[in-house]
Parts: sequence; C-alpha cells; structure tokens
Amino acid sequence: MANQLAARLNAVTPSVTLAINARAQELRARGVDVISFGAGEPDFDTPENIREAGRKAIAEGRTRYTPVSGIPELRRAIAERSVATRGAPAKAENVTVTVGAKGALFNFALAALEEGDEVVIPTPCWVSYPEQVRIAGATPVYVESTLEQGWKVSPEALRAALTPRTKAVVLCTPSNPTGAAYTVAELEALADVLRPHDCWILSDEIYAGLVYDGFVQRSIVSVAPDLAPRMVIIDGVSKTYAMTGWRVGWSIAPTHLAKAMDTVQGQGATSTATFSQWGALEALNSPPTELDRMRVAFEARRNRLVAGLRALPGVRCGMPEGAFYAFCDVRAWLGKLTPMDKVLATDADVAAWLLDAAHIAVVPGSAFMAPGHLRLSYAVSLETIDKALERLAGAVSTLV
Ligand SMILES: Cc1ncc(COP(=O)(O)O)c(C=O)c1O
Repeated sequence: MANQLAARLNAVTPSVTLAINARAQELRARGVDVISFGAGEPDFDTPENIREAGRKAIAEGRTRYTPVSGIPELRRAIAERSVATRGAPAKAENVTVTVGAKGALFNFALAALEEGDEVVIPTPCWVSYPEQVRIAGATPVYVESTLEQGWKVSPEALRAALTPRTKAVVLCTPSNPTGAAYTVAELEALADVLRPHDCWILSDEIYAGLVYDGFVQRSIVSVAPDLAPRMVIIDGVSKTYAMTGWRVGWSIAPTHLAKAMDTVQGQGATSTATFSQWGALEALNSPPTELDRMRVAFEARRNRLVAGLRALPGVRCGMPEGAFYAFCDVRAWLGKLTPMDKVLATDADVAAWLLDAAHIAVVPGSAFMAPGHLRLSYAVSLETIDKALERLAGAVSTLV
C-alpha cells in the first residue's frame, strides 16, 4: 500500500518540456552556449522599489502568518485597482491572494470542480489548465482555434463545446502560448454564447499588462458585467512586474466562491509569503515607468523575432497582441530529413533537433495541445534573438 500513488495522477501528463530542459542543461554543463526560448518568465529583475519593499517588510519583522486570503491592505488595493481598470464592482472580500496565479487556479479547481464536470478550454492552451482540471477529477473539453482565426476561439465553436455538464469555461487573454488577445467585440460575442449557460467563467488575465501596438485590453467582466456573479478573474504580479519568484497571484470571485477558495488555501498553503505580499502591494502602488520600459522592450523583441521567424522557409507565425510568446507553425518541416538522417516526424523531434543542431531550446506546440508548432518566449535580449535567428536559418538550410 505504501508504494501506491493516487489513481487521479494516472491521467496527469508529465511536462513535455522537461526532457528538453534536461537536455539543455546537459549541453550547458558541457560548456555549450544554449539559447533558451523556453522561459515563461520575464528576463528583467524585479524593479528596485519592489525589492526594497520586500526587504523592508522583513526588516520590520513582518515575518509571521498573514490571514489566509492575504493582508487586508493588499486585498483592498487589488479590489480598488480592479474596479478602476475593469469597471466591475469588487470588494476586498472577493479577493483571495494566492501562491501565484497558479495557486488561484488550483484553489478554483479544488473548490468548484468534481468528477463528471467538464471544463471547456480553448486551445492552444497553457499546460496547467487541463492538468489541474484532471487532478480535481473533472474532464477538460478542448475547443480548437487556428492561426487563421488569430488563435481565437469562435463563438460557434465555443457554443458547440458547451454541454449540461460544463462547469466552467477558461478564457486566457492575452494567451499563453499564442499571445493572442480578444478584442471587445470578440469578448462580447463569447459572452453572448455564455450568457444562457449556467457555468463559471474563469478569466485568466495574468498577461493583461503586456499588450502592444496600442491594443485595447479589456476584461470580459467589463464587457459583460451582468455575468460577474459567475466570473472568476485570475491575475497577479508575476509577469507584468517581473516577480515570478515572489509567488503572488490572486482571484477575484463572488463571495461564496471566494470563501470556498479560502477554505482550500487554508488547508493547503495557509497563505503566500508575508514579505511577498508587501512587495506586491508596492508593485500595485508603483508608478508605471518601469513597467512601460519592460513593455516597450518586449514589443521591440516581438517585432524582431516574429519578422525573423516569418523569414524562415516554411514557417508561419501570427503577430501576437500580447504576453511574451511567439507561436509558429512549423508543419512544413515535418517529414524532412536532418543531416544525421533523422526524419522530423513531430514537433518534439523538431525541438530536440533544434537543441542539438542549433543549440536553441524551444517548447513543442504539442505541450499546448497544438502539435506541429513551436513556442518561443521572447524574454531574451534583441542581441540574443538576432544570434538565434542566424542559427535557426543555418539549421533549417540543412534540412532536405
Ligand atoms: C496563462 C498563465 N496563467 C497563470 C500562470 C501562473 O502564473 P504564476 O507564476 O503567478 O503562478 C502562468 C505562468 O506561466 C500562465 O502562463
């Protein structure tokens, strides 16, 4: 008995990026200059005023447990900011400060989902949505989108996926892995489909602060406030403020769900770290200067990387509205032969070959339910992007 694992884990897929990361580390240990486009985090340091707030919290002895749902100052600031940016009512009692946005999603899965429930997830999707749904015993139901659709799910496809068992629908905008972000009109059309269907709407807005070309980023709650009683907004400081390691995210949910999520967190984590919460409060109160600097840098990198990828033979790549990922179609490379006489049969083969032949680490699209594609994170410098594009062009020219 002691050796037996929980059956619920049988359905959970180990990360497909692990093999690539392990190989990249192996190469690095041998002194190879591996360029990694794999990271799901900004390469910038956390702005200094936020780091100082964390240090100050520790120096002032703020080192004990906080309330499960977070320090009142932060919960209030999150609620106030949500009202200001989303225009939908939110009070501190709706906010649960969590161990990263991932913790908020996990609280939701355990608080709201059970066996027999279906959760509709547009694809390509971030890896953790389906896995968390499965850990909770529920079933992910995928709705595909394509590059031609700008990687956005159509209202018709969403409608077709809804069943009486649909307990929740996930919306991630801007998206990981595609960077696609829904316009106001697109959100309105999705809200029209969801309005008659009694299910939770999980809106993951963790990349909302990172949009480019003046894109108008709106939350679905601001275009369909009547659906607020069924909405859970997921957000956090990890991506926008370069604070991935601080582990602060949050959910904004109707009071009864917020209470249930507080119960889950109270038994699993107690709360996220105390000094991190004070750092997050400083982040929310910061002037936008540092954020603007990072956003402008990401935009320039996006433009450089996407243009370079599009110039490679056989590659198709959309222009992402936000986040820091380029998602490109490399199906034209499948079936080709490498100089080592290896046929590239899958996107995982392509990723493994790029690592060995060009020393470039990317994430295969199959990790995001989109085989035949690659995700490249542009949380790397322009110089690195240029160097990588040269290497990519060299490697691709050897394929026959
Ligand atoms: C779409 C999406 N949601 C949530 C998260 C989790 O963020 P955090 O680091 O705050 O847990 C990530 C991180 O990769 C993400 O890409």
